[in-house]
Amino acid sequence: MKSNNFPIGVFDSGIGGTSIWKEITTLLPKENTIYLSDSKNAPYGEKTKQEIIDLSIKNTQFLIDSNCKLIVVACNTATTNAIKVLRDKFIIPFIGIEPAIKPASLKTKTNTIGILATKGTLNSELFENTSRNINKEIIIKETIGKGLVELIEEGKINSSEMTKLLSSYLNPMLKENVDCLVLGCTHYPYLIPRIRDIIGNKIEIIDSGQAVAKQTKAILEKHQLLNTDDKTGNHQFYINKNKRVLEMILSKNENIKIDKKDF
Ligand code: SIN
Repeated sequence: MKSNNFPIGVFDSGIGGTSIWKEITTLLPKENTIYLSDSKNAPYGEKTKQEIIDLSIKNTQFLIDSNCKLIVVACNTATTNAIKVLRDKFIIPFIGIEPAIKPASLKTKTNTIGILATKGTLNSELFENTSRNINKEIIIKETIGKGLVELIEEGKINSSEMTKLLSSYLNPMLKENVDCLVLGCTHYPYLIPRIRDIIGNKIEIIDSGQAVAKQTKAILEKHQLLNTDDKTGNHQFYINKNKRVLEMILSKNENIKIDKKDF
């Protein structure tokens, strides 16, 4: 098998990174993928930096042992805390996900942007550096989305508990004149309909999915690693907890296989 046909590896603290996986496989339908959902250890956002690094190394090693040609860290918390260590330790291209603060700063008219992300992301050095490098006049309203990942992992996306929690995070932003909301966690795109119910249509919601898919394509091209096969890719999902919610969010497809596995 040529290395071009080797899979793209994707990992996340849970099922949220599938929002990124969907963008990648839409843009690159011929690519094979392996997705690791480390749901047993979710959420990463409440862990220490060292714990996040250790889990990211474990996931990366699994994907490298599975012959992956490139790894997408489909988790903002893992990217902002561990990507530098991963790039130093492993010789393989990595794509990371950073909150889309820069694009939001170019779009805002009220000069006030909101960001919803985990504690681990908002407290990271990488996030601090990104925020420091945007126009100084722009105010960033940071909110930790504590509890949201847990509810998504439990499949409670449309629950009243979720609406209550989201309202408590978003209503203060509405009062602050925020006109762009950055979703700084790959789980959160699954909440967009619920978020719209609360904030209406006036605020622009920005996530990083499409930008990450484009970047993945560009890096595969650069390394001459694009899959040249003339057929649709196959997708193997591994989850180390109950696979019910993962099955719920992935549409049934003969090219998708989901297995529960300890890793
Ligand atoms: C988490 O595991 O806490 C969230 C994952 C992310 O930041 O994308």
